[in-house]
Amino acid sequence: MASVPSLSASLQQRVAAALAAAAPSAADADPLLRRSDRADFQANGVLGLAKRAKANPRELAAEVLRALPADEVIAAVEVSGPGFLNITVADAAITANLAARAADDRLGVPVLEHPGTTVIDYAQPNVAKEMHVGHLRSSVIGDAIVKILEFGGEKVVRRHHIGDWGTQFGMLVQYLIEHPHELDHTEDEADAGEASMSRLDRLYKASGALFKSDEGFKDRARRRVVDLQAGDPETLGLWQQIVDESKIYFDSVYRKLDIEIHDEDIVGESGYNDMLVETCDLLEKAGVAVWSNGALCVFFDDIKGKDGEPVPLIVRKTDGGFGYAATDLSAIRDRTGNLHATTLLYVVDVRQSLHFRMVFETARRAGWLTDEVTVRHLPFGTLLGKDGKPFKTRSGESVKLEHLLDEAVERATAVVRDKGEKIGLSEQEIEANGRQVGIGAVKYADLSTSLGRDYVFDLDRMVSLNGDTSVYLQYAYARTRSIFRKAGPGQQAAAHPELALEPAERALGLHLDAFADALAEVVQTYEPHRLAAYLYQLASLFTTFYEQCPVLTADGGPAQVENRLFLCELTARTLHQGLALLGIRTPERL
Ligand code: ARG
Repeated sequence: MASVPSLSASLQQRVAAALAAAAPSAADADPLLRRSDRADFQANGVLGLAKRAKANPRELAAEVLRALPADEVIAAVEVSGPGFLNITVADAAITANLAARAADDRLGVPVLEHPGTTVIDYAQPNVAKEMHVGHLRSSVIGDAIVKILEFGGEKVVRRHHIGDWGTQFGMLVQYLIEHPHELDHTEDEADAGEASMSRLDRLYKASGALFKSDEGFKDRARRRVVDLQAGDPETLGLWQQIVDESKIYFDSVYRKLDIEIHDEDIVGESGYNDMLVETCDLLEKAGVAVWSNGALCVFFDDIKGKDGEPVPLIVRKTDGGFGYAATDLSAIRDRTGNLHATTLLYVVDVRQSLHFRMVFETARRAGWLTDEVTVRHLPFGTLLGKDGKPFKTRSGESVKLEHLLDEAVERATAVVRDKGEKIGLSEQEIEANGRQVGIGAVKYADLSTSLGRDYVFDLDRMVSLNGDTSVYLQYAYARTRSIFRKAGPGQQAAAHPELALEPAERALGLHLDAFADALAEVVQTYEPHRLAAYLYQLASLFTTFYEQCPVLTADGGPAQVENRLFLCELTARTLHQGLALLGIRTPERL
């Protein structure tokens, strides 16, 4: 395991040192090194520095240039424009750096020197309810962030804060007591998850209808809530049955989504039940929360409703019940106090932004969140239908997540079948590819959009072979594999730093070299779309390389064949690793 600094990072250091040498007053000035079309890199930092030092920028740039060490990395530097430095790196340096990357399992990506503990709240569906597109986003984005952070060496604790508590469970349990066979299973169910959901749906609807129409039932349901909260064993047993039934359903959806969820990470709202009273007491004693109109509230100077009246965070309701806020506050106490989190992340719909703002502020006032803990709500936007409105079925119901995934797989299978048959794939392989491409398409469409934005769920576009789609990336990967099959086992791939590179090879090489930097950015910003964009560009640069630089028939002789195969191999590993971090598979033959 050896981390490999990118050429861009080493250049950045060299130019910074030269800047400091040329203008000692600017010892810590940023050279602002960027990739550029003119040369490989452009440093723009001299301009600002000259302004501050009241110096002539072109003259200062010339001085920096003189201070740059002549070495094996920099092939040429020139001053251009008002005072930019254009830097071209040596071909040999590119190939040698890539060889160092290739020699490492982690492609030279460093592990964190001081890893912390991140507790991430994501994939939080609600018991006895159908999962909807919002749960899709939270799951897909959260899963990618978990994988990326763990790859960086961070300790990650997953928390699926499922909705498994609340007054509606009084109604559900009471109905179950009065209709004991409601959740009975038959043995041979083709789709256990879907069958579970339809049983729960029936239970929900039937009990809801009775609750509305039958005063007696309403009373019994209300009393049942009290039993549930008091921990009455029979009531808890039936509640557990409903939770377990839901888990069968969640499990089937997550299996389809190719996302791993572990039972011990499912700590739903009920998991904080024992802390609620204490949480409220502590808030009250500390004067953070006050009673107002019979409810225990926290007020904020800067949060007001349309009428100008302050909008409080309600931690205990007038009827004595605890709400969503009390649970989230207790969860923070658990996550910082017991799990020793240094970072708390919440992958939750943007519509809950105000809730989290108030919860975080309350936790700060109470001392449960200190400056040592980073806390971030990572809000995501809404999935839209083709009409630009929130994604719904024609009849206005929310779309069943499972059906949506099935449809994506079906479309993708049709897309891969055509080519698959031509390259002689079996029916089994075509189906497996269809699943990996279809699910990949759904995940990629989600992850390639910046989090806060809404996006249109358009399957035609998502499974298209051209454009910024996962299939395009998966094809690029499969192409590298097919080159190797054609090359045969006797042909080796090897780096040859002594060879001059074509423009398409340099462009591909410099981008491959930037993998670790791209990941570091995602770790810093929690924005997986940056990794998606990096990979898309990688696939595009590889396509150009493949069109312009024959690999197996390279006319520079055997060394060039080996070097180009080496580039193919490193591209394949980088695509595979990068897509894996996004939760997307890479079929070998497509
Ligand atoms: N179950 C909630 C929903 O479906 C999301 C929970 C978000 N997490 C939290 N800690 N509040 O909207």
